[in-house]
Amino acid sequence: MSFLQNSRVLITGANRGIGLEWTRQLAGPAGRLFATCRRPDEADQLQEIADSHPDTVDILPLDVAEPDAIQATAEQVNGQVDALDLLVNNAGINGGGKQDRFEGIDQKTMTDVFQVNAAGPHLMTKAFADLLRAGTAEQGATDGHAAVVNITSQLGSIANAQSDTWHSYRASKAALNMCVRLQAAALRDDGVVAVALHPGWVQTDMGGSEARLSPEESVEGMMEVTRNLSLDDTGRFLNHDGDELPW
Ligand SMILES: NC(=O)c1ccc[n+]([C@@H]2O[C@H](COP(=O)([O-])OP(=O)(O)OC[C@H]3O[C@@H](n4cnc5c(N)ncnc54)[C@H](OP(=O)(O)O)[C@@H]3O)[C@@H](O)[C@H]2O)c1
Repeated sequence: MSFLQNSRVLITGANRGIGLEWTRQLAGPAGRLFATCRRPDEADQLQEIADSHPDTVDILPLDVAEPDAIQATAEQVNGQVDALDLLVNNAGINGGGKQDRFEGIDQKTMTDVFQVNAAGPHLMTKAFADLLRAGTAEQGATDGHAAVVNITSQLGSIANAQSDTWHSYRASKAALNMCVRLQAAALRDDGVVAVALHPGWVQTDMGGSEARLSPEESVEGMMEVTRNLSLDDTGRFLNHDGDELPW
């Protein structure tokens, strides 16, 4: 899939961390980039990128925990482009991370984390499905496909889950991984690819300063994986370097 050049892309959580880096790296090559975040007025770094690419980058307000806002954003984008080539479901929260242990789990944390990390990406994919189908239809002549890249985590791997930490987050990412399989099943016949992509351990507010990868390294890897996606990859759980991860 060589579509990152001139492609129409929407990213959630584009104001900082990994989402900001996707925006930075795609602002040049993309044809149109909808960079969404909860509070555009406070998104200084994102504003700088948009100011440098005024014909490409649009900043739109979007809280992925708000289903009505998701729908309204889909309608707004639908009024501006005929199709979408790539949806990056990036926004996420950690729900207490390492401190989120069995004895401390509470209903509100679990519900909030599931809303943002699992329901949000799934509702986004549904809301933008028609635009993505149109993206695949337009690229049909070149064997291209529209794609949904869901930023998951290897902490969502059930096969690897062993420690009493990150309860809400791990469970929400496992739920997201299931949503990815379901997205793949729902969209395969329309030629739209859906994958779960782990960014690695990345130096962001969530990953912390000790993390192994810079946002640049992580996103460069994920963009390479994304560029090479084919319909054969739909429903896969992949690392930022393209390796398969265990469910
Ligand atoms: N960093 C890592 O090591 C790592 C590892 C595995 C997976 N991931 C995943 O990678 C993705 C990005 O993480 P990150 O490291 O960049 O984290 P981050 O620096 O904490 O950034 C999280 C982003 O998500 C946004 N967000 C949170 N709740 C939102 C909501 N309800 N609606 C819209 N946006 C919302 C935040 O916006 P606000 O500024 O408005 O809060 C922010 O832009 C997440 O899905 C995360 O689970 C990260």
